Amino acid sequence: MRVAVVTGAGSGIGAATAVVLARQGFTVACLDLDGAAAVRTADGLGPAHLALAVDVGDEPAVVAAFEAVGARYGRVDALATCAGITDTTPFMDATAEQFMHVYRVNVVGTFLCIREAVRRMERGARICTVSSVAGLRGGGLFGQAAYSASKGAVLALTRNAARAFAERGIAVNGVCPASIATPMMTALLEDDAKREALLAGVPLGRLAAPEEAAEAIAWLLSPRASYVHGETLVVDGGIMMR
Ligand SMILES: NC(=O)c1ccc[n+]([C@@H]2O[C@H](COP(=O)([O-])OP(=O)(O)OC[C@H]3O[C@@H](n4cnc5c(N)ncnc54)[C@H](O)[C@@H]3O)[C@@H](O)[C@H]2O)c1
Repeated sequence: MRVAVVTGAGSGIGAATAVVLARQGFTVACLDLDGAAAVRTADGLGPAHLALAVDVGDEPAVVAAFEAVGARYGRVDALATCAGITDTTPFMDATAEQFMHVYRVNVVGTFLCIREAVRRMERGARICTVSSVAGLRGGGLFGQAAYSASKGAVLALTRNAARAFAERGIAVNGVCPASIATPMMTALLEDDAKREALLAGVPLGRLAAPEEAAEAIAWLLSPRASYVHGETLVVDGGIMMR
C-alpha cells in the first residue's frame, strides 16, 4: 500500500489531486479545514481512504492529524500541500493581521505538514508543494502583496526542504499554477472584464481544469520524476512567457 496525504483535498486542485493519486493506486488521506468537503472527496474515492478536518496552520491539530494517519496506515509515501488561501487586498490597504493570516495558512501550514509527513516517510517518499506564478513574479494576476509574498516563501521553503531531506532520499518539489478554474478563482471569473483580462495573458487562451494541475503534482509525486529534486514546475498555460 502506498499512502498519500493531500491537504486542501476538499476543493479545487487538492480534490483533483486526491482523485488522480487514488486512480494511480495511492490510499489517500484527505485533509481540509472544511471537514465535510474532505469527507465528500474521500467518500468519492472509496472506503479505504480517510478524511480529516484540520486547520493546517494549527500546530497541535496538524500533529494530531498526522498521528491519526500514522495510526491508520503506518506510513506516508507522498504529500501534496494544496491547502491555501488567497488575498486580493491592495498593497496600501493590507494590514499586518491580514498578512499574518495568509502566512499562517500558506507558509506555516505548508511547513508543519512537511515536518509531520517527513516523520513518517522512508527513502523514496516524495513531497509536492503548491506555490503560484504569483510567487515567481510578484503577483500581477489576482493575489496581491500578502499572497504573492506567501507563495514566494513557499518556493524558498520547498527548496530548503529539498536540501534538508535529500540525504534521507525524500524528494521535494513544487508546482506553480495559475489560471486554474477552482472555487478560489470564482470571484475573478464571475467578473467578465477581469476574466477577459486574465485570459488575454494566457498564451493557451483558456483556463485549466483542476485535474491539469493535479496531473503535474501526481507526476512529481511519482517515481517517473525520480531525478527531479528541489524543482518547481510551472502549470500556467504559458503565462510566464509573457
Ligand atoms: N486556482 C489557481 O489558479 C491557483 C493558482 C496558483 C496557486 N493556487 C494554489 O493552489 C492551492 C489550491 O487552491 P485552489 O485553487 O484549489 O483553491 P480552493 O479554494 O478550491 O481550495 C483550497 C482548499 O484549501 C482549504 N483550506 C483553506 N484554508 C485551510 C486551512 N487553514 N487548513 C486546511 N485547509 C484549508 C479550503 O477549505 C479548500 O478546500 C492554493 O494553495 C492556491 O494558492 C491556485
